[in-house]
Amino acid sequence: MRVLFTGGSGKAGRHVVGYLLDQGHEVLNVDLTPLDLPGVNNLIADVTDAGEVYGAMNSYLSIDDVRDATGPAHFDAVVHFAAIPRIQIKPDNETFRVNTISTYNVIEAAVKCGIKKIIFASSETTYGVCFANGVRKPEYIPVDEAHPTVPEDSYAMSKVANEVTGECFQRRTGADIYALRINNVMEPEDYAKLWPRYFEDPSVRRTNLFAYIDARDLGQIVDRCLKTDGLGYQVFNASNDTHSVNVTTDELIAEYYADVPKKAEMGEYETFFSNKKIRDVLGFVEEHDWRKYVKP
Ligand SMILES: NC(=O)c1ccc[n+]([C@@H]2O[C@H](COP(=O)([O-])OP(=O)(O)OC[C@H]3O[C@@H](n4cnc5c(N)ncnc54)[C@H](O)[C@@H]3O)[C@@H](O)[C@H]2O)c1
Repeated sequence: MRVLFTGGSGKAGRHVVGYLLDQGHEVLNVDLTPLDLPGVNNLIADVTDAGEVYGAMNSYLSIDDVRDATGPAHFDAVVHFAAIPRIQIKPDNETFRVNTISTYNVIEAAVKCGIKKIIFASSETTYGVCFANGVRKPEYIPVDEAHPTVPEDSYAMSKVANEVTGECFQRRTGADIYALRINNVMEPEDYAKLWPRYFEDPSVRRTNLFAYIDARDLGQIVDRCLKTDGLGYQVFNASNDTHSVNVTTDELIAEYYADVPKKAEMGEYETFFSNKKIRDVLGFVEEHDWRKYVKP
């Protein structure tokens, strides 16, 4: 597919773009900075600027397209990852402004350009636990897509607004628009760098519901979204199968969630950030369990 990808130069995007290229997709990365990866085409644009977004949607995919006079790309799909990816990077109001207006611009331009598949990055933070003021617990475990979105911070608020934006445009146009509630993204080098701390003190993973998503497995999820048509508006949790700590589910429940209702039986190390829907609906099969890369 010919994919316009925003935010492909970032932590998550660069691995997802790599995965999509390996699957044979053609990618135009639209970002403020280029991604230095063989096979990727870059267009520097600010997605908070609607004119630049419309320009990007109607541009050539690569310089070769210009030489071959094949005309503008006519993208098959848009994957929108560009954002300010958490609180405390920019002032809260700026985080909300950038994330909401950019997602509006990208989805509006995509549907008005006739693009029928749009996938965008939402976040685990919409469930309200991650950036809560103090300790907040989920309403039940495992947290699936039916769990209420109850944020109290500007970043998660912006992601809930993004989801409303996606759902409204889907209703109006009938395009397939899928929101990924992405858990904490891990790059390959993060296992050696971060995991020793998680072995030592599992409580540091509480705000992420002890979960994680490998950036390459996130690539697989995006690819499967590209290949799965006709679902209308959907939200999908994106996480690996097990916790990011070397502690059993029962032990974690006893220590952190003894008073939280349990909605389903859970496996020995099963994640609290349910990924059942991506497995059942998209056919996701985890490839990058942390145990392949680091030993407790
Ligand atoms: N990293 C995580 O753990 C995590 C978890 C949940 C959701 N997400 C979401 O996934 C997406 C990617 O996150 P990430 O960690 O790769 O973030 P990142 O900051 O590493 O990458 C974001 C990219 O977007 C680009 N960008 C920012 N503003 C832009 C603008 N106005 N115009 C064009 N490009 C712009 C940046 O240059 C950067 O390359 C974000 O939407 C983020 O909210 C990330």
